[in-house]
Amino acid sequence: MKVGVLGSGSVAQTLVAGFVKHGHQTMIGTRDKAKLTDWLKTNPTAQVGSVSDTAAFGEVVVLAVKGSAAADVLRAAGTANLAGKLVMDACNPIADAPPVNGVLKFFTTLDNSLMEQLQREFPTTHFVKAFNSVGAGRMVNPEFKAGRPTMFICGNDDGAKAITAQILEQFGWETADMGKVEAARAIEPLCMLWCTLGFTKNEWTHAFKLLHQ
Ligand SMILES: NC(=O)c1ccc[n+]([C@@H]2O[C@H](COP(=O)([O-])OP(=O)(O)OC[C@H]3O[C@@H](n4cnc5c(N)ncnc54)[C@H](OP(=O)(O)O)[C@@H]3O)[C@@H](O)[C@H]2O)c1
Repeated sequence: MKVGVLGSGSVAQTLVAGFVKHGHQTMIGTRDKAKLTDWLKTNPTAQVGSVSDTAAFGEVVVLAVKGSAAADVLRAAGTANLAGKLVMDACNPIADAPPVNGVLKFFTTLDNSLMEQLQREFPTTHFVKAFNSVGAGRMVNPEFKAGRPTMFICGNDDGAKAITAQILEQFGWETADMGKVEAARAIEPLCMLWCTLGFTKNEWTHAFKLLHQ
């Protein structure tokens, strides 16, 4: 597949490396290509483009930017470049205020998640929440003694979720489909739970697993 990854931070860089590893053609999209000059030397098969070039390039798009900038980045990507496409949304709506006893603050409410806001503004795009509930260092083929960890996903389009599940399978995850876009109200705060262990116990290498009877 041709995958366009919007963002240039640790999540974007990690996922691009994962897509390249699994044989996908990949472009990383940033407002400032110069900041990726050194990174490109160690990732020569990835392409670097503008945000709109990257959205146009991708048959599948990944959104991996600061949560408060997500809507602006999608506007810069262009509605037409995103129409009808799967956008895997790794973003968390983390507020600028500091955590309280290790608990992050969000700028969203429990009735209005970030992905719902994005889905409302870009109704022709098929958003699927994915990769938001684990640290970047464990996103691609993580190894745990207990086996494959669980990635919680949600979104309105079943076809887009099926492609996401295929990608997650390649990336070493089992997928738990939690339903429509509103389930992002529950999946986004998993980031708070995940980070709490980091802030309070300096443990940053864990992942969630859903156990069924
Ligand atoms: N770090 C993790 O382990 C982790 C794990 C799971 C989920 N997440 C979530 O994944 C997303 C990316 O995280 P990250 O740690 O890789 O990077 P980040 O520092 O949260 O975001 C960096 C990216 O955001 C873009 N950005 C920042 N401010 C912007 C603005 N005002 N307008 C447009 N773009 C802006 C930058 O784009 P330019 O390149 O154009 O400057 C850069 O690519 C976040 O939403 C985060 O909460 C992070």
